[in-house]
Amino acid sequence: MKRNIIITGGAGFIGSHVVRLFVNKYPEYNIINLDKLTYAGNLANLKDIEDKPNYKFVKMDICDFEGVLKLMQDNHVDGIIHLAAESHVDRSIKDPFTFAQTNVMGTLSMLQAAKLYWESLPEKWEGKRFYHISTDEVYGALELTHPEGVKPPFSTKASSDQHLAYGEKFFTEDLKYQPHSPYSAAKASSDHFVRAFHDTYGMPTIVTNCSNNYGPYQFPEKLIPLFINNIRHRKPLPVYGKGENVRDWLYVVDHARAIDTIFHQGKVAETYNIGGFNEWKNIDIIHVLINTVDRLLGRKEGEDMDLITYVTDRAGHDMRYAIDSTKLQRELGWEPSLQFEEGIELTVKWYLDNQEWMDNVTSGDYMKYYEDMYANR
Ligand code: NAD
Ligand code: DAU
Repeated sequence: MKRNIIITGGAGFIGSHVVRLFVNKYPEYNIINLDKLTYAGNLANLKDIEDKPNYKFVKMDICDFEGVLKLMQDNHVDGIIHLAAESHVDRSIKDPFTFAQTNVMGTLSMLQAAKLYWESLPEKWEGKRFYHISTDEVYGALELTHPEGVKPPFSTKASSDQHLAYGEKFFTEDLKYQPHSPYSAAKASSDHFVRAFHDTYGMPTIVTNCSNNYGPYQFPEKLIPLFINNIRHRKPLPVYGKGENVRDWLYVVDHARAIDTIFHQGKVAETYNIGGFNEWKNIDIIHVLINTVDRLLGRKEGEDMDLITYVTDRAGHDMRYAIDSTKLQRELGWEPSLQFEEGIELTVKWYLDNQEWMDNVTSGDYMKYYEDMYANR
């Protein structure tokens, strides 16, 4: 079946993996990558598919309601996969307005344009889908009730059999939203708007909430690429607080695979959590990163441990995220394809092999932002 799909934020980290997957897997679809190209958007992430006949890039702000509506009309768009957002918690603490503008007003602009266009068609909502990509951070924070670790209730390919969870509670789809950062508050608000468009107008929407992603093309303000680059250049590794905070990590390609499954088979108006039961304390991940970078660069494994530098904690730092993705696994049969150890090896290798990509995104304005941020800590 032919489809015309807008993927917003397709030049960013996760979006570029979703665009690549859809362009390669569905040559019969027209894929339109709508992206404003903020500091986090980079067309170099899509070099390998930019000339494919079923791919088109459009530089546009999701807040440009008139532009978005015209784009949908001109291209007979029947599917939207909405990833464009401001995504970094530390930036949201410094500049919450931009997060409200992009994540809330931008999502509303996408929803309203889709509503006006789809309602104007004879078949209206039939065959249409508005798929909103959200985050586990909207659920708030879980406690570290078992700092020594307990066996998780399920095991998946993402985590080895011996891998542990750091509490007995998990984020499930029915949990009340309790966002703490301006980033997660803005994402929560956008999720509410998406559900409101289903409940009020009947728009066929889906929302998914995913855990922390890692992999190639992630902007190096986030923990994993930032630390790989710093270890390589023997720069300090700024660990917030005691490094005890826990995140649940999923390889980005597995998130893109889940998005593909849910876009095609997910039930309208449903929410699906996406994650791999793969919890790690930050400090343990940092040890893995140091050992892996050292080994791959031919250094003595662990010789860069002294780069670890404990700094002032992030304001409102959520202690633990842990996603329960059994609904998605049970109902749609998705599961992670990679174990964390394999994924992290691939990821470190990718950043070390792609120093030019890293140099391009860490020059100029970004370096100034990064230096200012740490000067203030
Ligand atoms: P990212 O910051 O790497 O990319 C965001 C993209 O959106 C960039 O290409 C940027 O140019 C674009 N963009 C920003 N503002 C825009 C605007 N006003 N108009 C058009 N385009 C705009 O983000 P990411 O990490 O790839 O996250 C993508 C989505 O997935 C976000 O909605 C995020 O909340 C969600 N998410 C991320 C993670 C994660 O671990 N990174 C986990 C769960 C959910
Ligand atoms: O859980 C999903 C979310 O994961 C996404 O919605 C966000 O878009 C994404 O940015 C990510 O949020 P986090 O805040 O968890 O990711 P970040 O990489 O910024 O930080 C991961 C952990 O590492 C967190 O506990 C803070 C800590 N950290 C981070 C940085 C950048 C440090 O200790 N030092 C650092 O320099």
